[in-house]
Amino acid sequence: MNNPQESPIADSLIAAARDAMAQAYAPYSHFSVGAAILGESGRIHAGANVENAAYPQGQCAEASAIGAMILAGDRSVRAIVVMGGQPGDGRLCTPCGGCRQRLREFAKPDTPIHVCGPEGLRRTFTLEELLPHSFGPDNLDF
Ligand code: THU
Repeated sequence: MNNPQESPIADSLIAAARDAMAQAYAPYSHFSVGAAILGESGRIHAGANVENAAYPQGQCAEASAIGAMILAGDRSVRAIVVMGGQPGDGRLCTPCGGCRQRLREFAKPDTPIHVCGPEGLRRTFTLEELLPHSFGPDNLDF
């Protein structure tokens, strides 16, 4: 399944991102984001954005989901759903630069990143598309 556009997205992964989005703590931006990772074990690890009155200390949904994945014992991302925005607004809630690098640690170049709105899939990218020529564990011989 090299073409991520053809990779099936489990309804359960989208549902987990939707549930996580509903739990976001985003009183400052009012922009709730949910993320759901399919780990190598087949389990789903979800997270939401967690903002802070000291704005730079806020945490993205993807970072929260990666933390949940590590806690649960998975170490690689098979796929991720990132969900944000309003139903039908058509905007892409793509991972920020920092989160692209965070995902790089645990994903492969062809790992699908499914960008969704509350109504469902908007577009799928590979990690390589979002973060070309990236620096990762292999650069350090890991
Ligand atoms: N945010 C995420 O959680 N993930 C993204 O992919 C984009 C942005 C959050 C950070 C902040 O809490 C809010 O969305 C507005 O930037």
